[in-house]
Amino acid sequence: MHEAAPVNPWVAFAYLVAGVCFILALRGLSSPATSRRGNRLGMVGMGIAVLTTIFTHLPVIDLSPGDPTVPIYDRATTDWATLGEILAAIAIGAAIGLTTAKRIAMTAMPQLVAAFHSLVGLAAVLVGVAAYLNPDAFGISSLVVPMIGQPFAVINPVSKVEMGLGVAIGAITFSGSVIAFLKLNGSMSGKPILLPGRHVINLGVLAAILLLVAQFAHTQDTWPFWAIVILSFAIGFLLIIPIGGADMPVVVSMLNSYSGWAAAAMGFTLGNTAMIVTGALVGSSGAILSYIMCRAMNRSFISVIAGGFGATDSGGAAGGGAIDRPWKRGSAEDAAFLMQQAEQVIIVPGYGMAVAQAQHALREMGDKLKEHGVRVKYAIHPVAGRMPGHMNVLLAEANVPYDDVFELEDINSEFAQTDVAFVIGANDVTNPAAKTDKTSPIYGMPVLDVEKAKTVLFIKRSMGGVGYAGVDNEVFYRDNTMMLLADAKKMVEEIVKAMD
Ligand code: TAP
Repeated sequence: MHEAAPVNPWVAFAYLVAGVCFILALRGLSSPATSRRGNRLGMVGMGIAVLTTIFTHLPVIDLSPGDPTVPIYDRATTDWATLGEILAAIAIGAAIGLTTAKRIAMTAMPQLVAAFHSLVGLAAVLVGVAAYLNPDAFGISSLVVPMIGQPFAVINPVSKVEMGLGVAIGAITFSGSVIAFLKLNGSMSGKPILLPGRHVINLGVLAAILLLVAQFAHTQDTWPFWAIVILSFAIGFLLIIPIGGADMPVVVSMLNSYSGWAAAAMGFTLGNTAMIVTGALVGSSGAILSYIMCRAMNRSFISVIAGGFGATDSGGAAGGGAIDRPWKRGSAEDAAFLMQQAEQVIIVPGYGMAVAQAQHALREMGDKLKEHGVRVKYAIHPVAGRMPGHMNVLLAEANVPYDDVFELEDINSEFAQTDVAFVIGANDVTNPAAKTDKTSPIYGMPVLDVEKAKTVLFIKRSMGGVGYAGVDNEVFYRDNTMMLLADAKKMVEEIVKAMD
């Protein structure tokens, strides 16, 4: 049997430093003001972890294989060719990551994150398969020499449980993330696909996976191992297809959490402390974020992980497009006049502001209003845009003071005493159907009560366009609403001009 190699104290120390960097990175990422520092610390931690892993696992060539008379340090030499291959693979991966990150539009970030999660899941499955096919190389087996027949490797029972769970979580993360990517990218309909009896099927498949892990740990047979992989790919797919529309943000953070647990499980198989620590951090922070988002969306945590538990067959079926009802159209001059007369204006940014990159023009407009003595506040819905904190990041980039930015629960009661609610490219997060229409896919989600303001100014490009959940918004047709139909950046620039 392979003895577990004693951990070099310097390696343990390096992994500890990497772990501390990751924890400080998460802390930094919790606020836009410190997020850059958080990102840098994350990069430093990952650099330390990768370098330490490479130097402590340098590939070697055994010059006198199997000769116990030669000490190991005399018979092993570094395998430079394999090391070159590893470094080349890292360089190719880094180049792809760097180019993608530079090119990707901010609005496409959720799909990118989903795609990256799928790679983490796939990596976990591949490590598990490699460990199963060659357990000796991973130091997780003992050689059994029978009285008759060939010696064979028996994998340690604990390692078999870790491998079974690791490949299962990895495969679920992979197929679930692929579906999330397709839905977020618009390559697949965002509407929930609800199979009859899906909860029974899902529970049945999950129970079967657990039984197969037990069977694999007991027998080490090939069939339960591959059955775990196949069923887990299937359940990842089944869990995500019923989730639609407005619940996708929760799914992305939940898959983030799964990818962390998959990495942690593989860290056990590889005996790599840094992977265990990083995986556990990603897994738990993703789970906490999912929980926070579920609370913000008024969804039950269990119902989302169970795969669209709360979705009804009517959910998501709501068609988009404009209702044929009268509505009022305004101009940039009207908007400038109304806002300059106001005592307080609350700006509600949404996905359309991000698409138009209107945040800088918006800040300029806010500054002009302040010069006129108008109180300006920004109201942020927890799922406005397409990723957690999307609006906060954009407003911070445009140097909007943090003190002017308020979360939903802190500002919602103020709309009733506000002269103008200025909605810029937000739709679902202001839709009162979430409060009144039980058949709406966003029913139950808290929304910003913009309709309670004296006047609502609503910027979007056309009456036909709908938001992410694909439903029309009744606020467009209210007496106190004025529609400003144009690209958000262009309209705000015109308003600023009109103010001059
Ligand atoms: P949405 O409901 O998606 O509405 C976006 C609005 O912006 C639409 O009315 C669209 O109408 C308008 N728009 C698009 N491009 C524009 C442009 N260039 N200029 C002006 N207007 C433009 O956005 P929201 O209110 O921010 O809600 C977010 C939605 O996304 C929620 O349903 C949420 O669940 C979902 N989601 C959120 C996340 C996270 S974590 N935040 C992740 C995935 C999904 P026109 O087409 O007519 O212009």
